Amino acid sequence: MKNLTIIDHPLIRRDLSVLRNRRTDNHLFRTTLRRVASVMAFHVTSDLALTTERVATPLETTTGYVLRDDIVIVPVLRAGLGLVDGFLDFLPDARVGHIGLYRNEKTLEPVEYYSKFPRSLGKSLVLLLDPMLATGGSGSAAIAFLKQKGATKIRFVTLLAAPEGVRRVASRHPDVRIFSCVVDRKLNARGYIVPGLGDAGDRIFGTE
Ligand code: PRP
Ligand code: URA
Repeated sequence: MKNLTIIDHPLIRRDLSVLRNRRTDNHLFRTTLRRVASVMAFHVTSDLALTTERVATPLETTTGYVLRDDIVIVPVLRAGLGLVDGFLDFLPDARVGHIGLYRNEKTLEPVEYYSKFPRSLGKSLVLLLDPMLATGGSGSAAIAFLKQKGATKIRFVTLLAAPEGVRRVASRHPDVRIFSCVVDRKLNARGYIVPGLGDAGDRIFGTE
């Protein structure tokens, strides 16, 4: 799929195995997810444009660089929160918006319950964060919502995807690049990614 970039790295494969393991407790799950998010942030931003500025070192003046685009990070509540700090480690000046969505477990359709965004979304590069891309309902709805609020440059960052979800987001939003660490085999009858890692929000917050 041409919209999809797989972030593959030995440290991510190791940490994904920790996240998949049913015996991993909530604390280890959170710290591992945060570490993976930092590595993902490094890759998702690898082609960002820079502008130059003059920097005075203690010895002389030289060329320095700043990111050209203003960055806005938008986690999808709840599970996207688990990725935020890892991204802020590398993007300390980013502003943070929030979208609250949960999936109706019967219809599998997303239900929106909260949103708050920084100003001038249209001028920013928006990094939408959600560790799970299953049916793609939540991701597609979150992207549509961001566009409605004026966002024009959006990247969707997920840890673990199902093929069905990647196809749905890519067909509804062909302008949005999707980054994922892995695409798993399929969705099961209840819309869970298999082999997957279970319910990400529950594992982050201990609500299983
Ligand atoms: C999870 C996950 C995504 C969504 C993915 O959230 O964080 O937002 O499911 O599923 P989809 O691609 O089929 O829409 P959930 O609805 O479990 O809410 P939570 O994060 O509050 O637990
Ligand atoms: N949401 C999750 O947290 N996990 C899945 O496998 C599917 C949706």
